[in-house]
Amino acid sequence: MHIIGVLISVFILNVSNGLKLQEQFSWSKVEFNWPSLTDKKNSLQSGHYIPKNNVILGIERWKDVLFVTVPRWKFGVASTLNYIHLSDTSLSPKLTPYPSWETNLLSNEPSESSLVSTYRIKVDECDRLWVVDDGIDNFIDGPTQIAPAAIVIFDLNRNQLIRRFIIPHKLIKPDSFLANTVIDTPKDDCDNSFAYIADAGAFGIIVYSFKENRAWKIHHNFFHIDPMSGLFKVSDISFTWNDGVFGMALHNLKHDSSREVFFHSLSGTKEFVVSNEILKNDSYAISTDTVYEEFRVVGDRGEKGHSTTEVLDRKNNVMFFTQVARNGIGCWNLNSPLNSTTAVLVDSDAVSLIMPIDITLDREGFIWVVSNRMPHFLHDRMDFEDNNYRILVAKSDDLIKGTICDIN
Ligand SMILES: *[C@@H]1O[C@H](CO)[C@@H](O)[C@H](O)[C@H]1NC(C)=O
Ligand SMILES: *[C@@H]1O[C@H](CO)[C@@H](O)[C@H](O)[C@H]1NC(C)=O
Repeated sequence: MHIIGVLISVFILNVSNGLKLQEQFSWSKVEFNWPSLTDKKNSLQSGHYIPKNNVILGIERWKDVLFVTVPRWKFGVASTLNYIHLSDTSLSPKLTPYPSWETNLLSNEPSESSLVSTYRIKVDECDRLWVVDDGIDNFIDGPTQIAPAAIVIFDLNRNQLIRRFIIPHKLIKPDSFLANTVIDTPKDDCDNSFAYIADAGAFGIIVYSFKENRAWKIHHNFFHIDPMSGLFKVSDISFTWNDGVFGMALHNLKHDSSREVFFHSLSGTKEFVVSNEILKNDSYAISTDTVYEEFRVVGDRGEKGHSTTEVLDRKNNVMFFTQVARNGIGCWNLNSPLNSTTAVLVDSDAVSLIMPIDITLDREGFIWVVSNRMPHFLHDRMDFEDNNYRILVAKSDDLIKGTICDIN
């Protein structure tokens, strides 16, 4: 045991010297900007704030703001939707609730903008923040539905709620897990936006039309898990996950204004694609049988190619995806077929990239990654003397430099 430990640390040193992703922020425990010290003390005493149960999960950048989510997976999460300022020079800045403390408090009388628990969030081209809130507290240890699952949309320029849409109960199943969201906005047509919400637990994609203010759900076998790819080993922790459709990425708009939507399951290594015309057509909510073959296999990242989220850099025509079982970030250039030779790691590190859980691309071409030791969190093996949550960043161009993904 001791010898293995020593070998690993030597390996870590070598790898971290070559990291392209720069650590921007890191935390051993999540701290918040409380309205007052008394509020913090009271919350600690009452158990409304249990620091070790606050884990950083999702990120999104907008201008000088980095949104950071803390899901209510265990008791004692102070605030689920938060932000930090990029200009913050401290290495471990405190999180400030967005849009306010009030909206993030667990309450029996929730307001229209109240938030219970959110995972991965998106800012669209129209400066709107899309938040999917599953409404559940203590999801892991004993779920309690505080509020119905909802899509909550904020206008970032005015810091105001635009809309709250309650996801119809019939679209949510007992196993539902609303893992991730992408926003499909046609050029200069904010009103015509659609949200695609991956239900990794009940194997479907919930489609929401902003214009019509209604939602439906599409099913397909490719949204399920690959039973041969459910076993993970990260650090020295082995575990099985049964998460279906999870990562999604949007391709360029075509001339007919359709676009391809890439997707993959977390418990699987294959990548798939379907036209957004299929998802946007609610007649396929009943069945996708007549268009079954419109869902296509793109390729396979190979052994340990499991990924949570992915993002497409349309300028470089390169897909970036988290590689949770490889402590790294992968890339694939869409000009080549996807396989284990063409899907390569752009960066990996056995300390700072356990486990890369979310990835996003900002408007300036920077790739942002959050890593959060999720297996340790889930198995109560966190070391709070150590840095556990990290936000790392690199220019997309720099990440692919010298890899097979850089065709220039
Ligand atoms: C939706 O699909 C049905 C069945 O294929 C088709 O008849 C209809 O035209 C489609 N609707 C749109 C808006 O494309
Ligand atoms: C992946 O695709 C490339 C390009 O077609 C090919 O050269 C390579 O042999 C393939 N690798 C595997 C493992 O199939």
